[in-house]
Amino acid sequence: MKRVLVLNGPNLNLLGEREPERYGSQTLAEIIAGLEKSARERGVEITHRQSNHEGVLIDALHDARNWAVGVVFNPGAYTHYSYALRDAIAAVGLPTVEVHLSDISKREEWRRVSVMKDVCVGQVMGHGPKSYLLALETLLEHLEAAG
Ligand code: DQA
Repeated sequence: MKRVLVLNGPNLNLLGEREPERYGSQTLAEIIAGLEKSARERGVEITHRQSNHEGVLIDALHDARNWAVGVVFNPGAYTHYSYALRDAIAAVGLPTVEVHLSDISKREEWRRVSVMKDVCVGQVMGHGPKSYLLALETLLEHLEAAG
């Protein structure tokens, strides 16, 4: 079975209680459970990791090169400034889809910049928890097109 790494960065462990008016009331565990179900229907197995630490996220990306076909990644605030994570995505070379619950293109100016965007095969944002389902679909479509 194809395996996909779903990776979540800082503060996403607090989903459900963190600014629910912006990020919704679903917990990360609930979002991942829904994603796992929809992945299984598509013959894909999800492995989920969340960390509040940049280096741990980098290690998770490095490790995934040994077993994953691709990555769905919400880097949280690292999106906007972590060149180290950007380089990790490029170094590992796995097709990666950047995902956000909120629409970062319509928020504060500093949030509109994604330093990940150029090294990702897609970017999905602004659909709340559904962004993750759409990001998985984007990744699977990319993999199919790439053969
Ligand atoms: C986020 C957007 C980021 O700007 C923010 O720092 C987050 C969550 C999102 O999913 O909308 O932590 O990545």
